[in-house]
Amino acid sequence: MKFVRFIMKNAALASVPKHIEHFSKFSPSPLSMKQFLDFGSINACEKTSFVFLRQELPVRLSNIMKEINLLPDKLLTTPSVQMVQSWYIQSLMEILEFLDKNPDDHKILGEFVDALVTIRNRHNDVVPTMAQGIIEYKEAFPQDPVTNQNIQYFLDRFYMSRISIRMLINQHTLIFDGTANPVHPNTIGSIDPHCQVGDVVQDAFHSAKMLCDQYYLRSPDLILQEMSSKKKNHSISIVYVPSHLYHMLFELFKNAMRATIETHESSNNLPPIRVMVSLGGEDMSIKVSDKGGGVPFRRIENLFSYMYSTAPAPQIGDHTRPPLAGFGYGLPISRLYAKYFQGDLQLYSMEGHGTDAVIYLKALSTDSIERLPVYNKTALKNYKVSQEADDWCIPSKEPLDLSNYKVAK
Ligand SMILES: Nc1ncnc2c1ncn2[C@@H]1O[C@H](COP(=O)(O)OP(=O)(O)OP(=O)(O)O)[C@@H](O)[C@H]1O
Ligand SMILES: [Mg+2]
Repeated sequence: MKFVRFIMKNAALASVPKHIEHFSKFSPSPLSMKQFLDFGSINACEKTSFVFLRQELPVRLSNIMKEINLLPDKLLTTPSVQMVQSWYIQSLMEILEFLDKNPDDHKILGEFVDALVTIRNRHNDVVPTMAQGIIEYKEAFPQDPVTNQNIQYFLDRFYMSRISIRMLINQHTLIFDGTANPVHPNTIGSIDPHCQVGDVVQDAFHSAKMLCDQYYLRSPDLILQEMSSKKKNHSISIVYVPSHLYHMLFELFKNAMRATIETHESSNNLPPIRVMVSLGGEDMSIKVSDKGGGVPFRRIENLFSYMYSTAPAPQIGDHTRPPLAGFGYGLPISRLYAKYFQGDLQLYSMEGHGTDAVIYLKALSTDSIERLPVYNKTALKNYKVSQEADDWCIPSKEPLDLSNYKVAK
């Protein structure tokens, strides 16, 4: 029996490339916030969601698996990246098992929910494991700008794909596991149709403050202001995933607190962190302002790089150090969360003074549509860029010796 299972597993494994080839030919189907809500509202249909996911999840997985294969060999063959790749293969195989199953069978629907939970747990550590792969690669090989650019391009797409896959899995498992959310009964899966932005700001601030107090024994205060062009004196709410908003704000607060404290080390008073929440017709924006000394303009782009962090890299599994600064993924991943529903995250800094970090989200749920990577010729071309000469002059560091240019008299 064991032997038969072994043979079958190997046969399934051998057919994986064929499946990836097949499913990567389809483009992922981005869902709007409204569609997410419809999937989970009163007329929620588990069967429809099952039939959609057993096609859409393999499509999203296969699209990104094609791109994993385009990574530079030296990175692809690190043990960490190999491990991540094996998780993707395993999860794809587990979902494909449901392709020929009967959607009317309740037992099958239950098994599907269980399979999704297993898959979600398997992929919990994808980000630190991938980050470890990057560190192994950085330590072993000299860096070149083209490879760095490729890795940045890939990781933005890879982590965005992961956010979207987890969103689909969370919605299905939360809505159809047969229990209501006791803490937030009005949420639809992970979406809150009336997400109170100010409350999430307060929650994220207090969590960051606790970490900051533990680590530095003090922390700056919060001053929160809300402005709405439509509803005066009303707290601002949007249709959104509170956990995503919390993630972004928590990261911004950790950064703002660290910068504030390190800049005002010798002072008894810490300048507060100011937050402005503003709702317009199109955008809902949140500005987090600190007086933490700012960042030189030249470095701003680097802060969103996966290859760059000023804090020393923590070891995986090292939970002893409070993660006020870790892999340097706080900003790039937060920007992906903002972009996922067509928003953005930008930093405006004034070196010597402080930093404003602004999260832009869509005010209207009809504008909040998933932003998903698709594997196609354009994506392929982006991995094939080669190093070319700069079309702007590179200034020499040496002072120019003008005596060479004396005009002959
Ligand atoms: N508000 C800020 N003021 C000054 N510097 C900042 C600010 N926000 C970010 N930075 C700089 O940007 C770098 C990258 O920030 P990011 O949040 O991405 O990573 P990290 O804080 O180093 O680690 P992680 O967030 O993963 O724990 C920081 O190390 C810090 O040097
Ligand atoms: Mg950070």
